[in-house]
Amino acid sequence: MIIAVDGPAASGKGTIAKALGRHYGLPVLDTGLLYRAVGLAVLKTGGDPDHEADALAACSFNDGVLADPALRSEAVGSLASRVSIHPSVRQALVKRQRDFATQPGGAILDGRDIATVIAPDADAKIFVTASVHVRAQRRYDDALSHGGHPDMDSLIADIQARDTRDMSRDHAPLRVADGADLLDTSNLTIDAAVQQAIALVDAQLERRRNA
Ligand code: CDP
Ligand code: CDP
Repeated sequence: MIIAVDGPAASGKGTIAKALGRHYGLPVLDTGLLYRAVGLAVLKTGGDPDHEADALAACSFNDGVLADPALRSEAVGSLASRVSIHPSVRQALVKRQRDFATQPGGAILDGRDIATVIAPDADAKIFVTASVHVRAQRRYDDALSHGGHPDMDSLIADIQARDTRDMSRDHAPLRVADGADLLDTSNLTIDAAVQQAIALVDAQLERRRNA
């Protein structure tokens, strides 16, 4: 069983994917971390994220990097969204995502193009959204609770810039896949969002069984 969870920054897709993982007993891959690892590697080597060859050279990171807390910052999120435009970068990361998706027993992946490109035959597809303001507020609260000094206006601007870049790129743009269910978490607690996600997945699985 493969479950695809896509959506924009801070929509809650990671939280929902992890909760679905616990509920269905499946491993979860946050695919955004792969693009973040490439973004951070470009930064560290002094490369240009907008230059395809520099970004591609940064794709050979080893898996230990995926635990680096530096990957979590919005600055690295922005770099990730710049390197992820390049088709060769996306291609370089496809195999590990598909290998994860097709492991025996099944898997859950969250990202931008899971249901459209990585696993279009997924058994269940959820597209998680929330308003820009709610998403910026979540990032604001996260930063505050980690001792940061966030600025709401720049968080909103960063999220809007990332949305625009992710939705308008030529390769694997962020969009709702055929057959995906929308889940707007703007006014939902985490528990309520998770319960709705489980109900949507169960209903999709049931429809597939009856098809
Ligand atoms: O993975 P993504 O960037 O889409 O979002 P996330 O990391 O799952 O969630 C971003 C933040 O929003 C986290 O601090 C979550 O606890 C919070 N959140 C929330 O307040 N309400 C929800 N329904 C989902 C997430
Ligand atoms: O957690 P958040 O939603 O803020 O970001 P993320 O999921 O870690 O993704 C960071 C960036 O990587 C996104 O803005 C996308 O540009 C890119 N990405 C992608 O292109 N395809 C994916 N499957 C996952 C992330």
